[in-house]
Amino acid sequence: MTLGFSTDRPDSWQACSACGNETIITDPRPRCGNCGGLLEVHHRAPDLTRDEVLRRFTERRGGRGAAAASGVWRFQEMVLPGVSDIVSHPEGNTPLLRRAAVERWSGVPGLALKHEGYNPTGSFKDRGMTVGVTQARRIGARAVGCASTGNTAASLAAYAAQAEIPALVLVPAEGVALGKLAQSLAYGARTLLVRGDFDDCLRLVEEASRELGVYLLNSINPFRIEGQKTIVLELLQQLGWEVPDWIVLPAGNLGNTSAFGKALHEAERWGLIDRQPRLAAVQAAGAAPFATSFAEQFRQRRKVKAETVATAIRIGDPASWDRAVRAIVETDGVVLAVSDDEILEAKAAVDAAGVGCEPASAASVAGARRLAREGAIQPGQSVVAILTGHVLKDPGILLEYHRERQPSPPGANRPIEIDARLSEVERVLKA
Ligand code: F0G
Repeated sequence: MTLGFSTDRPDSWQACSACGNETIITDPRPRCGNCGGLLEVHHRAPDLTRDEVLRRFTERRGGRGAAAASGVWRFQEMVLPGVSDIVSHPEGNTPLLRRAAVERWSGVPGLALKHEGYNPTGSFKDRGMTVGVTQARRIGARAVGCASTGNTAASLAAYAAQAEIPALVLVPAEGVALGKLAQSLAYGARTLLVRGDFDDCLRLVEEASRELGVYLLNSINPFRIEGQKTIVLELLQQLGWEVPDWIVLPAGNLGNTSAFGKALHEAERWGLIDRQPRLAAVQAAGAAPFATSFAEQFRQRRKVKAETVATAIRIGDPASWDRAVRAIVETDGVVLAVSDDEILEAKAAVDAAGVGCEPASAASVAGARRLAREGAIQPGQSVVAILTGHVLKDPGILLEYHRERQPSPPGANRPIEIDARLSEVERVLKA
């Protein structure tokens, strides 16, 4: 599985994204020892042609072993070469769906939905976590931890359980969707309900990692980013390495936006693609510091007190800011904010098409509709929207939307209670 590399430079190393200071691949700190900037992983390109690399990625599909079964490790040369003790569920291999009803609703013909909710714990976080926990084991971490709005916690809990490393997760005491909290408990993570928001949780877990030696597995961990790059690599592979015009994704802590930018940059540098798609990062209007800053040409970093129904992206002070700015600038990308009503309407459209996703995920589809209406996405352009999490992550919002909300919102499907008589069924069918 490991490639033969030809020179004496290591296969991979880490470098600070702010000051360029380099450190070894097994350095456990997520931040630069010099300036406190976020670290990034770099891999030396293998001594192979484009066709040889692509053939390797293709041949692994359907082959044997972890690298073949996983939609992350299939791309190992671009993720974490040189490691064979892999903690893989497996994960990835998520479908690219097309649904006429969603195309009609969004006004984007040919819209493809890359559904990351098909991952083992129901969100894209598994792609980063298989790499993060593999690295944790590689460096002999005695405990792993994260702050989370829910999905990262669920994913860390599952992968740490598999690796038999104790896990600590910090989530806001209020506002974590039911499915996610339930998963963290089920998979056995020590779960702390912090009286505060996600931004408080992240501050606290960073402190705990520094002071108490817990290996930090938030998306500021550069190995998480390496795994999440494979969302882009896999969708390019599914499109026969034909580059779409747009990739639209929800944005919260900006780890994924950073990962997408890095994947595209490297895919171009390795000669796998010959141009970049435009990235569109979509925030919820009540948690949109990055969108505000984009409108100001990123002249200053912004923070807000976040509030949105899309609890996964209820984040006011995104951690991966600088890396995400680079991703948007390098891809001629855009950042926009959509309202909670637009998110829920998009979610109802995705759900009613039989696909389903959690609220934060629907921000991408709401964003695609807005961009098409504003003329940024032009007729005939190819667009991939990322659905980041599974519909069952947040059953609470579903029942509230369909059963309780007054007046009845678009697409609401009210359940009807009846007595156990055929005439009652008949009455409903005739109505
Ligand atoms: N969609 C879902 C379903 C998420 O769970 C998240 C982030 C995002 C989108 C945004 O991705 O943070 O990389 O910009 N969830 C994190 C968590 C914060 O803790 O589970 P991002």
